[in-house]
Amino acid sequence: MAIKLRARKCVLLVIYLAVFSVLTASTHGAPIFIFGDSTMDVGTNNHLENCKARADHQYYGIDYQGSQATGRFSNGFSTADTIVQLLGGYDLSPLPYLALVEDGSNFTREILHGVNFASGGAGLAKATNQAFYGNVVSMEDQVQQFATVRGNITALLGGTKGDHLLRKSMYIFSIGSNDLMTYIFTKPMTPEQFVINLTDTYAIHLKNLYSLGARKFGIISLPPLGCCPLARASTHGGVCDDDSNNLARACHASFDNLLKNLSSTLKGFKYSLANTYNMTMNVINNPSGNHKYSFYL
Ligand SMILES: *[C@@H]1O[C@H](CO)[C@@H](O)[C@H](O)[C@H]1NC(C)=O
Ligand SMILES: *[C@@H]1O[C@H](CO)[C@@H](O)[C@H](O)[C@H]1NC(C)=O
Ligand SMILES: *[C@@H]1O[C@H](CO)[C@@H](O)[C@H](O)[C@H]1NC(C)=O
Ligand SMILES: *[C@@H]1O[C@H](CO)[C@@H](O)[C@H](O)[C@H]1NC(C)=O
Ligand SMILES: *[C@@H]1O[C@H](CO)[C@@H](O)[C@H](O)[C@H]1NC(C)=O
Repeated sequence: MAIKLRARKCVLLVIYLAVFSVLTASTHGAPIFIFGDSTMDVGTNNHLENCKARADHQYYGIDYQGSQATGRFSNGFSTADTIVQLLGGYDLSPLPYLALVEDGSNFTREILHGVNFASGGAGLAKATNQAFYGNVVSMEDQVQQFATVRGNITALLGGTKGDHLLRKSMYIFSIGSNDLMTYIFTKPMTPEQFVINLTDTYAIHLKNLYSLGARKFGIISLPPLGCCPLARASTHGGVCDDDSNNLARACHASFDNLLKNLSSTLKGFKYSLANTYNMTMNVINNPSGNHKYSFYL
């Protein structure tokens, strides 16, 4: 149990080293909606009662303005901040949905810039880490929260203008690592079945968002989870754990197929898939190299 606890904590703390160069002139200034886990959370979990996955204390945020721990699972910015900075038009990620709800004063103004729904520890599957951390916002609940925001935007702008804005908006995802680590520790099915199950679960969420009006999807797939320090601590000689890394690569390939399928069957579905596995491996294997990646939408 001690090992399980430590290793799963490590997943939550994974920080992407990769630099995204996001080229999206046509979406400049459009709202950005962010879904995901600790790699994208900018304070959601601070607003959850009974949630033990928290980044509201030292030394989180040590390099952030004023050295504040904001709920980002990072020393400074989260991936969500970096992506919106690269997209242009924004200095920081949109605010967490739960923060906007809690202090309603800026809700209607802020939702027109976007909302961040991401919750550290969350997974694509509803049950992932719920018992383990007490309470996290699953992907299903994040989509449900977006449905509420969509209703608020439509009420504000009217149906035609609201739908137009939501079609122009960007939907960014970084989630699945916690499902993978849960699988590694519990193995309730074969690895092949797990990859299909996770992909099918992702498909349900993406289709639901499409039916709510989303069209531009930016998906960040799974990093080499077997290389995070605590996973390496459990292998002989401190090498990366192959089981986790093989699964992360298999998930990337499967997400790639899914997105191709969705874009060929759903009219107007546009996407970009970031290969976080290769990006992170390149940084690990070649730390002094020039790490620039393109992430087109
Ligand atoms: C709401 O917006 C105002 C003006 O930008 C800002 O001063 C205030 O801190 C915001 N409130 C919250 C809770 O973010
Ligand atoms: C947003 O929509 C929800 C659900 O319809 C509603 O309960 C809430 O009051 C709305 N928020 C605002 C600020 O209008
Ligand atoms: C994934 O597997 C779980 C556990 O067997 C099951 O409850 C769930 O319905 C599956 N999800 C999909 C999308 O097939
Ligand atoms: C994509 O579509 C092909 C052809 O219909 C199908 O065989 C495959 O299982 C689909 N893959 C995913 C991940 O949806
Ligand atoms: C990822 O890395 C592998 C191994 O180096 C390589 O074969 C593959 O083409 C790379 N994929 C992308 C999308 O760069």
